[in-house]
Amino acid sequence: MRIFQKARDIAHLLCSPDEMDFCVGDYLVAGGGDNSLLLQVLDVSYADVPGVLEDILRDLSAEQTDGRSLFDPYNVSSLSLLMREIRAVEAKVRGVISSGKLRTDTVWLPDRFSSPIRRADADTLMSLTAQMGHRAISLGKVGEEEFSIQAESLDGGLTIITGKKESGKSHMAKILLEGLISHGATVVVLDLNGEYLNLNRTKSGEKSAIEKALRILEPGVNFRVSPEQVGLRCFMDVLEHVYGTPPTSCREFARIWHVLEREESRVTLRSLINMINRSPMHEAVREALMSRVMSIEASSFVCDDGTTDLQSLLGRDSEGSLVVLNLRNLQQTTRRLVVEFLLSTLSNLLRADLVRPLFLLAEEAHLYLRETYWDDIVTRMRHLGLFPIFVTNQPDSIPDSVYRQADNVFLFNFSNEADLEKVSKASRVDGESIRTLGRSLPPRRCLLVGRMVGDIPVVVKVRDSNLQTMGQTKLIFKDKELVAQVSS
Ligand SMILES: Nc1ncnc2c1ncn2[C@@H]1O[C@H](COP(=O)(O)OP(=O)(O)OP(=O)(O)O)[C@@H](O)[C@H]1O
Ligand SMILES: [Mg+2]
Repeated sequence: MRIFQKARDIAHLLCSPDEMDFCVGDYLVAGGGDNSLLLQVLDVSYADVPGVLEDILRDLSAEQTDGRSLFDPYNVSSLSLLMREIRAVEAKVRGVISSGKLRTDTVWLPDRFSSPIRRADADTLMSLTAQMGHRAISLGKVGEEEFSIQAESLDGGLTIITGKKESGKSHMAKILLEGLISHGATVVVLDLNGEYLNLNRTKSGEKSAIEKALRILEPGVNFRVSPEQVGLRCFMDVLEHVYGTPPTSCREFARIWHVLEREESRVTLRSLINMINRSPMHEAVREALMSRVMSIEASSFVCDDGTTDLQSLLGRDSEGSLVVLNLRNLQQTTRRLVVEFLLSTLSNLLRADLVRPLFLLAEEAHLYLRETYWDDIVTRMRHLGLFPIFVTNQPDSIPDSVYRQADNVFLFNFSNEADLEKVSKASRVDGESIRTLGRSLPPRRCLLVGRMVGDIPVVVKVRDSNLQTMGQTKLIFKDKELVAQVSS
């Protein structure tokens, strides 16, 4: 393999087909002494050999004349045959490795004819990408070697996991969860499809390593809160953003709340309903408030005897803890109500330093997160100690500003240009790398971008997980095939 030319940060290499022990996204190292060039393979094509069109035409004609060979006394055809099969490799120059560190500020280039070029192994990549930290999370393999990232690189940041349907996003999320929890982190999961409920078991049904850490919250069953726990401010947000209550009705509600606080020992749903019934107000306002409060009562999540205490659930101990909020089978409004309460409570607890900083893993968050929360989560709440991990197969459901602030992106395959364009807004890598590599990722491969890989994008073959999952889609025909097999 030889370097043919380099223009800006793109290098073109030439190699024979049997030298190609690499895939798109893999790294090559050119040079062997004190310095070497780090190159990431973007594309492979045929070399532009002069006269190749004539050669192919001659070949085709020879086939037509029963393959009669041409007069070739010096056997030059075998050499020209080899030349025509040379491959051209397009690679992105990521920098120069000098004394074990990657530098981008040098103009050093390897010798064109004598420099050896080899595939970079996982250890080389990890030593270049590893940030400070010693809490490894194994993600899978690069080539045939194990590749891991440091849990510290996810800490304090915003992470996005995206890719097309069934590409392995939730699978990756579970690998990360397991790693983070085993290193003592607290993770709260907003579980839309009930996929994370069985993480206490391994695939073979035994107790998993995170069995002790898992707590499942079922809104309306073991997760019920009183109106006082919700508080007036959160109640007002719920009325405004979840139920679209007009401002005049919201103001009336606040007035009633204050009256109840003054006159009675505690604010309950019953006392709120009674007060709305008998307090003098416009009939339209009474109607608007009554229907909303009745709907909140019907959710069974807010109830007068609700007592779930998130603070004690999240605890302050240094053991890892996983709280899964099951949002499956909930009505749209109840789901939004629960999330509204959870986020407002978490930010209060974090502000008062009553719980440790935590990761919030949210699948398809646009289905329950109100518009104004995106910026709030990535700015204000992040400073308080709530670090989001967003998982989605619809990249356009996440605002551009969130991509720009992303510290880490796990990208699975996208064939749709518009989706790749959206993800390429992530500011930590050039858009071209995301577009080129994201399009060519095979199944089970993930492109890692951002802080976790020291801003050098790495393609990893994602490992299997031992944890039991419940994400599989129920099928009609799978069962029928089984029945047919059993009965035959
Ligand atoms: N690296 C892997 N090794 C083994 N199985 C995997 C791997 N990645 C994904 N799977 C399996 O493939 C299936 C689909 O993966 P997963 O549910 O993570 O996809 P998804 O991208 O979250 O899909 P959706 O868009 O429907 O949410 C699951 O059964 C999962 O266990
Ligand atoms: Mg999924």
